[in-house]
Amino acid sequence: MENNWLPVNEGPRADALDKVTGKATYAAEHRVSNLAHGVFVCSTIAKGIIQSIDEAAALKAEGVIDIISYKNCPAIPGYAPQLADGTRNPKQWWGMKVLYDNQVRFYGQPIALVVAETLEQANAASLLLKITYQKESFETDFNLARKDPSKAKPPSTYSRGNASNYEQAAVKVEGEFTIPIEVHSPMELQATIAVWEAEDKLTVYDKTQGPKATQGAIARLFNIPDKNVRVIVDYVGGAFGNALRNWHNVPAACIAAKKINRPVKVILTRPQMFNLTGYRPQSWQQLKIGADATGKFVGIIHTAISNTSRYEEFREGIVNASRFLYACDYVDTNYRILPLDVSTPTWMRGPGEASGCFALESSIDQLSYVLNMDPVELRIKNFAEKNPESKLPWSSNYLKECYDKGRTLINWANRPQKPGSLQENGWLVGYGMANGVFGAGRSQASVRAILQANGNLVLQSAVSDMGPGTTTAMTKIASENLLLPLDKISFKLGDSELPPGPTQGGSTTTSTLGTAVYLACEALKKSLRTLAVENVPAFKNLDASTLVIKEGGVSASIDKEVFISNADLLKLGNKPFLEITQDSQGTSAMELKHATNSFSSHFVKVLVNPKTLKIKITEVVTTADAGKIISENTARSQMLGGVVGGIGMALFEELKFDHYTGAITNASFAGYQVPLHPDIPKTTVWFVNKPDPIINPIGAKGLGEIAFIGLAAAIANAVYNATGKRVRNLPITPEKLKEAKI
Ligand code: MOS
Repeated sequence: MENNWLPVNEGPRADALDKVTGKATYAAEHRVSNLAHGVFVCSTIAKGIIQSIDEAAALKAEGVIDIISYKNCPAIPGYAPQLADGTRNPKQWWGMKVLYDNQVRFYGQPIALVVAETLEQANAASLLLKITYQKESFETDFNLARKDPSKAKPPSTYSRGNASNYEQAAVKVEGEFTIPIEVHSPMELQATIAVWEAEDKLTVYDKTQGPKATQGAIARLFNIPDKNVRVIVDYVGGAFGNALRNWHNVPAACIAAKKINRPVKVILTRPQMFNLTGYRPQSWQQLKIGADATGKFVGIIHTAISNTSRYEEFREGIVNASRFLYACDYVDTNYRILPLDVSTPTWMRGPGEASGCFALESSIDQLSYVLNMDPVELRIKNFAEKNPESKLPWSSNYLKECYDKGRTLINWANRPQKPGSLQENGWLVGYGMANGVFGAGRSQASVRAILQANGNLVLQSAVSDMGPGTTTAMTKIASENLLLPLDKISFKLGDSELPPGPTQGGSTTTSTLGTAVYLACEALKKSLRTLAVENVPAFKNLDASTLVIKEGGVSASIDKEVFISNADLLKLGNKPFLEITQDSQGTSAMELKHATNSFSSHFVKVLVNPKTLKIKITEVVTTADAGKIISENTARSQMLGGVVGGIGMALFEELKFDHYTGAITNASFAGYQVPLHPDIPKTTVWFVNKPDPIINPIGAKGLGEIAFIGLAAAIANAVYNATGKRVRNLPITPEKLKEAKI
């Protein structure tokens, strides 16, 4: 059978053994002597001023070392809004300055840090603080606030073409869509251990997607050189975007450790993970789409509002895909953010596009029924031959191959064109599909390659691996380039002292870092060839460029019999090791002349019980054009994870507020529903696996985001196909299906 991307025997993931044996050390697990433990005390009002904090009882509690709040927080250079000369401080901390002032900006905001000898003692003492507040009126209800246009920030708008195209469209559909707040919910809690080595020098163990970014942020906080801050993040237990920023735990641990002159660990609790590490913002969208009688799109109007906090402006590309995923002359988008008295949202897997594609792809599906066309055929009809927004040619776009494979693998031929017309064992059957798209970017990176005396290769870069398999993929790139077995290559990451690597985000790590690894290997091969000509008598008169590097050594292309291993070559050349540090500059001139995107197309089969309206997803086929697939197993796992996340978004996830107090009411895994094992169906993954010829020398585009984007719409579309009811307010529950009119 053709490979439908079942797990292949490509060797274990590079970090598999460490992870399954518990050897992998996560941020909070590092053993540090003389460690004290910090626990946040959080506000119990949504907005106002702290009037008083009575620490007397807590300070007397066993093991308590200090209680830090705005009342006694030392002056922190990065907290100062202004410099001594009165000008704005350009190095100010990005984000809320925890323990800084008496303002309460959202319910559950950390306002004091209780530091004690043990975590238990800190927890116990944290209950003894007596805090009084002066409350102010607040607003947490997005769906109420959005109805008053004056409350939102001015829009960012985009328009092309002629509005009358839409007005005169032969067929039109319009709909409003809402998506509640969704939370990353990784296994690993956000945690920081800060260890001051000297007055101006510290080591920080932190859960971060960007060791270099975190290093810079902490250096600016204390106005010390970057090199005086060492950030270590050996392993990350999932993140999905919530470790792209440094949250309250980072400054709190560093400030407390300095103040008490001892290492301090601050680890967020699971409930705190629900509002102290960002989330996918809540959104409302309106989508209008019109087509001519043949199904050709003539107008798309996409309007969106998403929430931000009162103290920061968070925006994402919620309407962007509507501008370029399909060919359409007239497109109008309008996006506003709406500040509420809640914590700041952040990037969460597929940020922007995941919400936007729910509206766009649901609407296209609806249009297909009005036109009585197959929804895949409708998308093929409107395939964009080049990017209609930038007018640039795609670097590659194999969406049509995704459609072909997806249809075959899900058995699309079984799909009823008339909703609600097919049953299996008394359950309604529905098939749905939807697309995902995300930018395929590439940025700067630096990689050090060290060929050791024994012929083993060590690669190093200051990145972190939150789970996609960066370590494995980088090792594979080097293995394929140097024709060196995988077990002779190791990749060291997770330390800010290594050559600077990118923050892991936006599905760019493989493209960015992989290019640097590739270039480092090319440079290494060049050095080996030169070394061989200079030191091996048999190669003396040969042109270095004709030598072949493979199987851990060098041979001559004309005489394969002459072979010297890399280890022998180093010995002969009197080199204890060969070291190369290679920079990769990011986006090239060629890329700038192209639209670089990754694409996915997801196919779903659902069963809906006609009596209870219970939804069972029975099969998912997920296909992607992500360029060349570097590591088949880890790429496949990315896609499976995207499906799980998509099922969560479609059917389960919703953060809930009590708008009377402003508190989150389901900040736990008991109250915040995520998909469980029985909710995950048989899933088939398929990749086009054709190298992108433009984006980088390795041909790989990004994968993390498109694995998720579009999934929720594919599920909603399948539910419509089964029932004839379209739920536009996520998550889709039996209650909402019952209420849905058509
Ligand atoms: Mo991703 S939302 O860029 O971690």
